[in-house]
Amino acid sequence: MTDFAEIRGEFPILDQRIHGHPLVYLDSAATAQKPSTVIDAEGDFYRTINAGVHRGAHELAARSTVAFEQARAKVARLVGADEQEGHEEIVVTAGATAALNLLATAFGNASQGRGGQVARRFALKPGDEIVVSKAEHHSVLLPFQELAARTGATLKWFELDDDGRIRSDTADEVITSRTKIVAITHISNVTGAVTDLTPIVNRTHEVGGLFILDACQSVPHLAIDFHALGVDFAAFSAHKMYGPTGVGFLYGRRELLEALPPASFGGSMVELAWMNRPAQYMDPPARFEAGTQPVAQVVAAGVAADWMRAIGMDEIARHERTISGELLKLNDLDGVRVLGPVRNERRIGTVAFDVRGVHPHDVGQFLDAEGIAVRVGHHCAQPVHRHFGLFASNRASCGVYNSVEDAAALVAAVARVREFFKV
Ligand SMILES: Cc1ncc(COP(=O)(O)O)c(C=O)c1O
Repeated sequence: MTDFAEIRGEFPILDQRIHGHPLVYLDSAATAQKPSTVIDAEGDFYRTINAGVHRGAHELAARSTVAFEQARAKVARLVGADEQEGHEEIVVTAGATAALNLLATAFGNASQGRGGQVARRFALKPGDEIVVSKAEHHSVLLPFQELAARTGATLKWFELDDDGRIRSDTADEVITSRTKIVAITHISNVTGAVTDLTPIVNRTHEVGGLFILDACQSVPHLAIDFHALGVDFAAFSAHKMYGPTGVGFLYGRRELLEALPPASFGGSMVELAWMNRPAQYMDPPARFEAGTQPVAQVVAAGVAADWMRAIGMDEIARHERTISGELLKLNDLDGVRVLGPVRNERRIGTVAFDVRGVHPHDVGQFLDAEGIAVRVGHHCAQPVHRHFGLFASNRASCGVYNSVEDAAALVAAVARVREFFKV
């Protein structure tokens, strides 16, 4: 049995008091805390290796390149992507938002004829359809809405059921022969609901479309295998998986990355550049990694990926399930409503809730005064809030370091909110 209390001890930030109370950090869906091993990896890189990657004849540049590429392989191993040299399927980006924008921009470029014949499969035109869902984070919704506007394609979406789950049972109607792209969240950052992907992925491929997965909230919490899921592209962020900020990853099936035109241009992504001829771009992943890379952060993200694998993703999921069970007791409180599935099944420990008659910011401040950190607002997902008839909510979200006691402390505090505000 994994000792999760011991694992919590690896997070120095948690060992502090806030407003006189021990810190209860329940905001991991926004960003996860970092274990010492990840913090040290970033510092150690700067202390011993720091150099740019892929160029430079000196020893530090060579070591930096090895560390960077090893980190890419570690991340690939965590998510079931190819890690072999020459077959890499993981592209380094500045975050999941950047990864999704990279894709939307590259598709837009292909729609304007960039990338030649092989890139035609990414091109969109009026009449084509892009499908998202009402559960999407704005980082999915907006880049693809913008892509639709640029290309004349039509944006369509999956509706949600009463639990806020994506209606994957409607895949055959929503996805049509005109659908070119389907971009869907694996797990909502509001409801914590796990999407039933199989019918959507199958239907997308049946009509010849491309399936893009927003895996931001699944990679930190579940065992993921992008090959087994059959997705074409996926985006996720290092900072939500116990790694540093400023780094994210785009997964792409190798043959698709090879055909995809670049989205940003500059140093380190080009084989040959001339004044009077178009440049000849490098193979992926370099083609998508223009400019100096955040090497220290990527190296630390690799350490985070290995650290998670060492605990075991199934073990993490099992532990967090006990916490989500406790968090769901929020729904039993008078005047409190959980937005999302209230049964502890096909969901993670990300639980948004509404306290009737009390503004989410007031709830957040009340909890903060007790040392409990939750998120307040619309969590960059306004359509899903509208689905529940709200504009904003509170959200508690757990990570490996949380305990059932943390969740119980939250529930006990929320139970006093309405009385405190005299509603
Ligand atoms: C579901 C989901 N998608 C996308 C993002 C965007 O990730 P980032 O802000 O790290 O780029 C987030 C972050 O909150 C998220 O929760």
